[in-house]
Amino acid sequence: MCGIMAYVGEQECAEILLEGLQKLEYRGYDSAGVAIWDGQRIELRRCEGKLVNLRRSVAAEPILGSLGIGHTRWATHGRPSEQNAHPHTWGGISLVHNGIIENYVALKQELSARGHDFSSETDTEIAAHLIGASVQSGHDLHTAVRLATKRMEGSYALVVISEDEPDRIVAARQQSPLVVAIGNGETFAASDIPAILAHTRDVIFLEDGETAVLTAQSVQLFDADGLAFERPTKHVLWDPISAEKQGFKHFMLKEIFEQPDKLVDTLRGRISLDRGDIALDGAEPPKAILDALKRVVLVACGTSYHAALVGKTLIEQLARIPVEVDLASEFRYRDPLIGAGDLFVPISQSGETADTLAALKMAHSRGAHVLAVCNVVDSSIPRISDGTLYTHAGPEIGVASTKAFTTQLASMMLLAVYLGRRKGTLDPARARMLLEDLRTIPTQIEKLLEASDAVREIAKHFIHARSFLYLGRGVNYPIALEGALKLKEISYIHAEGYAAGEMKHGPIALIDENMPVVVIAPKSETYEKVFSNLEEVRARGGKVLAVATEGDLKIARFADHVMTIPAAPDYLQPLLTIIPLQLLAYHIADMKGTDIDQPRNLAKSVTVE
Ligand code: G6P
Repeated sequence: MCGIMAYVGEQECAEILLEGLQKLEYRGYDSAGVAIWDGQRIELRRCEGKLVNLRRSVAAEPILGSLGIGHTRWATHGRPSEQNAHPHTWGGISLVHNGIIENYVALKQELSARGHDFSSETDTEIAAHLIGASVQSGHDLHTAVRLATKRMEGSYALVVISEDEPDRIVAARQQSPLVVAIGNGETFAASDIPAILAHTRDVIFLEDGETAVLTAQSVQLFDADGLAFERPTKHVLWDPISAEKQGFKHFMLKEIFEQPDKLVDTLRGRISLDRGDIALDGAEPPKAILDALKRVVLVACGTSYHAALVGKTLIEQLARIPVEVDLASEFRYRDPLIGAGDLFVPISQSGETADTLAALKMAHSRGAHVLAVCNVVDSSIPRISDGTLYTHAGPEIGVASTKAFTTQLASMMLLAVYLGRRKGTLDPARARMLLEDLRTIPTQIEKLLEASDAVREIAKHFIHARSFLYLGRGVNYPIALEGALKLKEISYIHAEGYAAGEMKHGPIALIDENMPVVVIAPKSETYEKVFSNLEEVRARGGKVLAVATEGDLKIARFADHVMTIPAAPDYLQPLLTIIPLQLLAYHIADMKGTDIDQPRNLAKSVTVE
């Protein structure tokens, strides 16, 4: 997620913008820029890298003025570079944007045909051209923004200034947060509260479809039809630290709750229900590669490896292509059989994990086609891959991965359907059905998150446990591994994930009344089999926490605690079963008082072996 800060008032604004952006630094970014009206024209200053670079540039050559916009960019379309950094400018207007303009390719073609040249690889520049052209054709800035946003599909928080009306800022919001704030003779717009807290606590949150016109003295609000309306300001009491976490106690909890929105971002623009098909944003392997495809090899570390394990089942079932999964640290040292005819898929949140990177290089050098699944745009892994399917989870700050994982799971589903359609194992009608189901997942997760307090009640019973066992089968076996990993990472309680069918081959010896066992047993093909594991645990006095389908009365009789998920087809269950397990780990750790966002000994990105 990128950061936005804008100011109109009486003060010199360069420092105000830079300070505001600095308060949003925790969200992660790779370039930054400001545009300020200097009394003659809008002056633009952008730099790749950290804010300090921009700060140096502004200190060396100050820009004076009291109307300006600023941005920290976290790349989604186009690499981090000065050219791609915001603000983007065209036709006397300048703007910053958070979000993704889904139909930017079509809009770009249309504008190119009208003679527009573009200087960046971003979707955002399209918005600058649309609005600039509209202003040049005689519209005032507010009208131009409204007309342009009507043509844009996707998500945006847009903040725009114009040389023709240098007393105002126009802001627009669609599915990307934007707040306006009112000070004394000055007003602000920002993507997030921390940016403005040093100046005022009186804010108005914009809703989807709304626009606002800010001058030093006033804020006017307009609904989706362009009709003016009023909304009282809210006085925020958050301290700056909890403001960064948007009121959540930890980044991890915030990120757990962001999952519905982030999954919408992952799916956005990629699903065509009409055709029952998937677009991979230009990462599609060439037809010759697909025709010759014999095997898919998924390689990753940590949580991303668990997403790969789910991916194996999805791809094998839907595309009927053999899939191998390996830990990157194992793959790279076993002189693997890999080459032409293989699609090599490294999965990585950071795009920088040393083992995954090394495995990729090896696969590439031996002739495999590399399609990466990654969260951080233009990180090392995408840079040397043939194509990348970005997960669009936004920056993940908590060391224990949550939203990066679920967006990886959704990406695995997209890849499985894509390959199934290419291989002809999925017809459009079945693909459409699968995709319709997939699109309901964010709403279902939203409902699951409402049970957070109930999961906390369950968690209370287990804060003194020394060791946990997690059991699952099929697509839920990797979820048992991931659930156990979450718990050990942040609560320091030993936890082991096991394929439920393997329980009697070892772990059953550990089970007694002191051993909580988490059994993932939603209604599925293997329900009865997992259920018998559950009975075996009970018979030995083990405490059972079940993740089960809503309305499953049978399981309620056997388990000590039940966390429910809505009924869902097997292949989508991991996206749901992981949610209560993330919450369980979080609440146990929180009650133990561990350092949840930065657990001991762990690193967010492991760039060494
Ligand atoms: C570290 C992180 C994990 C992550 C793993 C792989 O261990 O703490 O959360 O799953 O690295 O990282 P990647 O960025 O490649 O997904």
